[in-house]
Amino acid sequence: LRLAVLASGRGSNLQAILDAIASGALDASIVGLWSDRRDAFALERARAAGVPAHVVRPRDHADRAAHDAALFGSIDATGADLIVCAGYMRLIGASAVAARPGRMINIHPSLLPLFKGLHTHQQALDAGVTEHGASVHVVTADLDAGPVLAQARVPVLPGDDADTLAARVLEREHPLLVQTLHTIATGRLVPGAEMARLDGAPL
Ligand code: GRF
Repeated sequence: LRLAVLASGRGSNLQAILDAIASGALDASIVGLWSDRRDAFALERARAAGVPAHVVRPRDHADRAAHDAALFGSIDATGADLIVCAGYMRLIGASAVAARPGRMINIHPSLLPLFKGLHTHQQALDAGVTEHGASVHVVTADLDAGPVLAQARVPVLPGDDADTLAARVLEREHPLLVQTLHTIATGRLVPGAEMARLDGAPL
């Protein structure tokens, strides 16, 4: 399984994938890391692991379509099988998504369909839920709304703030993402098929 990873910042999920590949736990390769930000620490993690690191910035392109064309032109040239958004904080245009049905997944820090978008940990605290977590889902044109492939749950504890809750969720994101990629790499989960099967069904 050849993975293209997209990340905007810290890149701890990228690191979890790199570590799983290095340890033999995940039979995959990362063909490149793409970031929309030049200062993303994920770029350094990729370089340290010998993975080609690319910066494709929105500001260097006229509009979203031009940015997507540059980004996906670069990704497609590597022959990636699956595009993994791992902390990629930018919307991808509907036509770029539609051109790759079931070939893009995202990790989102909430139990979808709850708490889409940003500030999910604060959203969870504000809603007063007792359970929170993370989801891996297929990317579709609608933000954080594609079919859910896997989830990890954590308790919300008394005294939590957004940071303590985020840390508890992040610890579970890493094995969740690696495990989901493992089930895909071993052919037991096909994101495109999940998308077709779940299309229109309530999550
Ligand atoms: C993670 O919580 C991910 O779910 C969210 O952004 C964060 C990225 O963390 N979309 P990292 O860059 O992988 O460390």
